[in-house]
Amino acid sequence: MVVCSHPLLQERLGLLRDKECSEKEFRRLLTEATYMLGYEATRTLETTSYPIETPLQATTAQAVVGNSLLIPILRAGLGMVDAMLQLLPEAMVGHIGLFRDHDTLLPVEYYVKIPYDLQDKQVFLLDPMLATGGSLAYALELLEQRRAASATLITLVSAPEGIRRIQNASIPLRLFTAAVDSGLNDLGYIVPGLGDAGDRLYRSSSF
Ligand code: PRP
Ligand code: URA
Repeated sequence: MVVCSHPLLQERLGLLRDKECSEKEFRRLLTEATYMLGYEATRTLETTSYPIETPLQATTAQAVVGNSLLIPILRAGLGMVDAMLQLLPEAMVGHIGLFRDHDTLLPVEYYVKIPYDLQDKQVFLLDPMLATGGSLAYALELLEQRRAASATLITLVSAPEGIRRIQNASIPLRLFTAAVDSGLNDLGYIVPGLGDAGDRLYRSSSF
């Protein structure tokens, strides 16, 4: 697990946590935070050299190789897609739709559109919140069924309970997060956390 401590990321995280942060600001800050997390998470991507000519002389440049696949967990993960696509403009985007049942806290699947065979894909799973870990564990099972070799998870705020839960996944994982918070409250929310990320992105607490 990598906890990214960069000051510019930590500043954005603080602003995102603030209950006074508007939805407009929340979206912008989540995008900016994702750039920084994504920058770290893509550090080990393979590159290949190719020849170019500058206005002065011949030299070589580097191009990223590999089939990157971004998979946001709907809905809140959608808030991280634009930033990741800026970093990886050639990436494919799949979607996994899950919501947490309010009573059981278990994930309920409502949409899955990802390639059937993930063997040759570099998978980036995007979700700002890792709470009980049920949602990401469910998504990881789907990836395993479709033969993913590994996955990189990018979250903004993680709870120790969720981190422990996904450690048992049967495919190799790397987790990049901006914070490991204290834990979960009685309703399964991360504390101090930032509240319900989906509601804050989409102003959906009232519908
Ligand atoms: C949130 C969040 C994660 C999940 C984390 O989604 O975006 O997907 O909860 O909780 P867990 O680790 O305990 O599974 P939510 O179910 O609220 O759906 P939403 O994104 O549509 O609001
Ligand atoms: N999902 C959220 O959006 N926030 C939490 O704190 C926990 C789960």
